[in-house]
Amino acid sequence: MQSRRQFLRQLGGTTALLAGSETLANAASRGLYAGSTHLLTPLAPRSAADTINIGLIGAGIIGHYDLNCILKVPGTKVVAVADLYQPRLVRAKEVWGNDLFTTRDYREVLARKDVDAVLICVPDHWHDRISIDALRAGKHVYCEKPMVHHIDEGKAVIDAHKKSGKVFQVGSQRASSAAVLEAKKRYEAGDIGELTSVETFLDRTDALGAWQYTMPPNLDPKDVDWDRFLGDAPKRPFQAERFFRWRNYTDYGTGVAGDLFVHLITGLHTITGSQGPTRIFALGDLNFWKDGRDAYDLVTAIMDYPKTDKNPSFQFTTRVNLATGAGGDIHTRLVGTEGVIDIGWNSFVMNRLKRPNAPMYSTGYDALFTYPKAMQEEFIRQYEQKYPADQFSRTIKNEPAVAFNTPAGYDDRLDHMIVFVNAIRANDPSMITEDAEFGLRAAAPSLAANMSAKQRNVINWDPVAMKLIKTT
Ligand SMILES: NC(=O)c1ccc[n+]([C@@H]2O[C@H](COP(=O)([O-])OP(=O)(O)OC[C@H]3O[C@@H](n4cnc5c(N)ncnc54)[C@H](O)[C@@H]3O)[C@@H](O)[C@H]2O)c1
Repeated sequence: MQSRRQFLRQLGGTTALLAGSETLANAASRGLYAGSTHLLTPLAPRSAADTINIGLIGAGIIGHYDLNCILKVPGTKVVAVADLYQPRLVRAKEVWGNDLFTTRDYREVLARKDVDAVLICVPDHWHDRISIDALRAGKHVYCEKPMVHHIDEGKAVIDAHKKSGKVFQVGSQRASSAAVLEAKKRYEAGDIGELTSVETFLDRTDALGAWQYTMPPNLDPKDVDWDRFLGDAPKRPFQAERFFRWRNYTDYGTGVAGDLFVHLITGLHTITGSQGPTRIFALGDLNFWKDGRDAYDLVTAIMDYPKTDKNPSFQFTTRVNLATGAGGDIHTRLVGTEGVIDIGWNSFVMNRLKRPNAPMYSTGYDALFTYPKAMQEEFIRQYEQKYPADQFSRTIKNEPAVAFNTPAGYDDRLDHMIVFVNAIRANDPSMITEDAEFGLRAAAPSLAANMSAKQRNVINWDPVAMKLIKTT
């Protein structure tokens, strides 16, 4: 059986850090990445009978991505699909074959003996219920992020996972991303010294990025199972936008924080091994997309990560802005006492400081010239004695930057699926990179940011016990 640590070590063997002037093209020509879209190695099926049968629950946008992704992993097959919009079941058969079992009721997928694992790709307000039902039905579960819609739903998912003994992976693919795992190695090796702060943002540039997804022409409401869609959300008459653009409404979605902070926090927790912040404060506004939505389109949060045996205390700031023209980029910057790592989606650049900033004494903005001449000369004499001449500089001298890039076509979602399939195949839930506890620890600070923005106060969170702390 392969432990999670061995598995991650295996990753180390398949990637290479592109240092100095080495380019990705050079590396590829040496065969490091040739033709690859993933960097992890799938465990081979033992026989034809060792096929993992998949049920897809939610055949919307990510359902298609996730299913097509897992089907690239050898020894997987789709057998059943559930969705609440009839034309999406028609489409499922068009894409994955007429033999597919399709239904509007996900419980019929869970009841099937031939389904080994399910991909849960439904709106956020259904994640906890379907995950728990699937684990109780003895299925391995890949549940899309955020793991829960509300923080207090997390414990039941964790309990169901523990009781089941099944593999449970939350779908924040940054937990298995090559760029994140390579940055983690650099961080753990102490290459940037002690962490002092982390800044992240993820912005969008266009209407699709702001969740204005295409709605079907000539929509027939009879094709939508509206009552089932609402689930535990407040009852209301059918409204197409709420069904097809559910992220815009907090009854079903978790806003920009639940949708996107979760990715950034997953990356941060993967790199640092942090369990989460203790205090969360956020501002939320709806400034740009005044289209009837009730979710903020701009959230900025600051969080306070406590000192642990793994990390010093550090400040975390994060922002998501959906305003068109806001940037369309994802960025994480870890600032340490000896260097900085700047991480994008599939790459990073690390700059190490050769030495700390030395005082400057000739010209410029420094106090030395304000002292009498004799005092200045004495300062310089002492300083020259203490430091070698080449250290007299105000400028921070960097060592050459270290850059890491994934190969063209690299898909971290595929690596995340390989982790899921390998854990099922090895029958070892500990090989997972984002289990239910990790999932809650990534979701909770994001959901707490929504709470803070709404309530206009600081939210206190115990990241170890995974509990909100009430203050009077
Ligand atoms: N990991 C990622 O990068 C990533 C990217 C996009 C979306 N997601 C997550 O995936 C989930 C789905 O997002 P999406 O963009 O695919 O949404 P979507 O609206 O495109 O698809 C959701 C589908 O679920 C179906 N559905 C809703 N309730 C259901 C139920 N009870 N049973 C069966 N089917 C049901 C809907 O009919 C719809 O077809 C969300 O939680 C989202 O946060 C993750």
